[in-house]
Amino acid sequence: MIANDVKLGEGVVIHHRDLVNLYGCVIGDGTRIGTFVEIQKGASVGVNCKISSHSFICEGVIIGDEVFVGHGVMFINDNYPKAVTEHGELQTEQDWSVIETRVGRGASLGTNSTILGGITIGDNALVGAGAVVTSDVPEYAVVGGVPARVIGDSRERGQQEGVL
Ligand SMILES: CC(C)(COP(=O)(O)OP(=O)(O)OC[C@H]1O[C@@H](n2cnc3c(N)ncnc32)[C@H](O)[C@@H]1OP(=O)(O)O)[C@@H](O)C(=O)NCCC(=O)NCCS
Repeated sequence: MIANDVKLGEGVVIHHRDLVNLYGCVIGDGTRIGTFVEIQKGASVGVNCKISSHSFICEGVIIGDEVFVGHGVMFINDNYPKAVTEHGELQTEQDWSVIETRVGRGASLGTNSTILGGITIGDNALVGAGAVVTSDVPEYAVVGGVPARVIGDSRERGQQEGVL
């Protein structure tokens, strides 16, 4: 479902509108969104991005233009989550605060990567499949592993040659 408060840009492509969950978010012009994607309130996605199936983009995530988000990419906006308060009551929005995460223009996030809260991923960086990103990624860096470490430079391989 796509809630009425979603700001959808021109030419956004969502083939299965009944198989996504978008609410309170902003989606830039020309962006494509696959099935089983959830994008929460307060998140924004730039223009001409590709968001592949099963990815979760939570509140506090700001994605730049021309970003590739692979399948099953998970963002985090609370690094120390709790279900209940110290008094045992279910937490409300007043009991925790969102941590912001940014993804730079032209970056690519590999399948099943997890991006911890508060991270900045630089322009044109490439996050390897299965990586857990726990610290900022410099622009053009290729990172991989758990925790993710720099393993290359996206100018040398990959994006220009169409690896993704
Ligand atoms: C990270 C990635 C870009 C590296 O590609 P590459 O530059 O061609 O690297 P190579 O395959 O030559 O591997 C280089 C080294 O990195 C390691 N490596 C490659 N991918 C890795 C990954 N995802 N996580 C951890 N290490 C990885 C290799 O094991 C190799 O290590 P070694 O030198 O110790 O043997 C690529 O493997 C990847 O994960 N791409 C994302 C693909 C994806 O998710 N696409 C989504 C759409 S289908």
